Amino acid sequence: MKIGITYNLRHEISADKGPTDLYEEFDCEETIQAIAKELGEMGHEVIKLGWGKEFLQGILSEKCDLVFNIAEGMGGRSREAQVPAVLEMLGIPYTFSDAQTLSICMDKGLTKRMVSTIGVKTPKFFVATTVSDVRRHRLGFPLFVKPALEGSSKGIRLHSKVNNRTELERQVAWLLKEYGPQPVLVEEFIRGREVTVGVLGNEKPFVLGIMEIKGKSQGDEFVYSLEMKRNWMEEVEYVCPAGLDDFTSERVARDALKVFKLLGCRDAARFDFRIDSMGQPHFLEVNPLAGLSPVYSDLTIMAIKSGYDYPWLIRTIVDLAVERNGIKTGSVNFASA
Ligand SMILES: Nc1ncnc2c1ncn2[C@@H]1O[C@H](COP(=O)(O)OP(=O)(O)O)[C@@H](O)[C@H]1O
Ligand SMILES: [Mg+2]
Repeated sequence: MKIGITYNLRHEISADKGPTDLYEEFDCEETIQAIAKELGEMGHEVIKLGWGKEFLQGILSEKCDLVFNIAEGMGGRSREAQVPAVLEMLGIPYTFSDAQTLSICMDKGLTKRMVSTIGVKTPKFFVATTVSDVRRHRLGFPLFVKPALEGSSKGIRLHSKVNNRTELERQVAWLLKEYGPQPVLVEEFIRGREVTVGVLGNEKPFVLGIMEIKGKSQGDEFVYSLEMKRNWMEEVEYVCPAGLDDFTSERVARDALKVFKLLGCRDAARFDFRIDSMGQPHFLEVNPLAGLSPVYSDLTIMAIKSGYDYPWLIRTIVDLAVERNGIKTGSVNFASA
């Protein structure tokens, strides 16, 4: 097959304006090289399409059988839907979720509203578009404050957990100034263990693993903030399978699968939960375009700790997309788990 890769590169733009994590969700050259290498070793012809005009020109001139899409896009809350929407227009199959699912999942508040309709618990929250919005809330402290439309811990720092009205107003004002115009999500802070759940599949999705993300120092107050993600080797311990009892593991796995289906996720997605002291999982967010660095992405670490490897992960994603789209190819070797 001829497979195009779509992506946004971190080094292409300089963050001379705005916060230091402005482009945090974009990928490193090494990640694109690693995906291209695996696809090449599977026997496919690989074309790097990038994003924007370069992608538009490339996709019109190359005849791709499939696009491996990890482009985060730029500009507005539907940015992850940009590449999928063009590919849908042209009738070209691609990996991962469609434009609608990607748009919904980018909006943490909207996703939480949907998730709460199917009996999956998610922290109580409100959305603030001005600092004065915080005066109306009735939630108890501590609270957690984050941008409503971001990922990769953008705008999330160790001080995102706030203990009183003054800290809340300061944090909301900072986010509105640095990451606006976009609303701020304020939700109950859930003390306890943090896990991320990897799900692969389509009609019969399955849980790849439940991985606990443990701060080496902060205990159940741990926040997987930008500081922690950037310094993961020193600060974070990844435990997979997570040290949960069977009952709690089943609860989290069931919740992740329910949300995967509700949102119409495809091929793969990663779900973040906090588990409170009663063993109750609380859904935080979903990543339908989970990071795929061969070294530091949670899904990769989880796959490796679950007994697979990076080539297996990339091959499985492609095989799932091929099967879902009914693409006829001689080189497919479906890797079931
Ligand atoms: N309500 C919350 N209670 C406790 N910790 C939270 C809460 N929301 C987010 N966090 C912490 O912040 C991290 C990043 O938040 P998340 O919603 O997953 O955003 P991102 O899309 O940037 O990964 C989480 O992994 C978790 O450690
Ligand atoms: Mg997260």
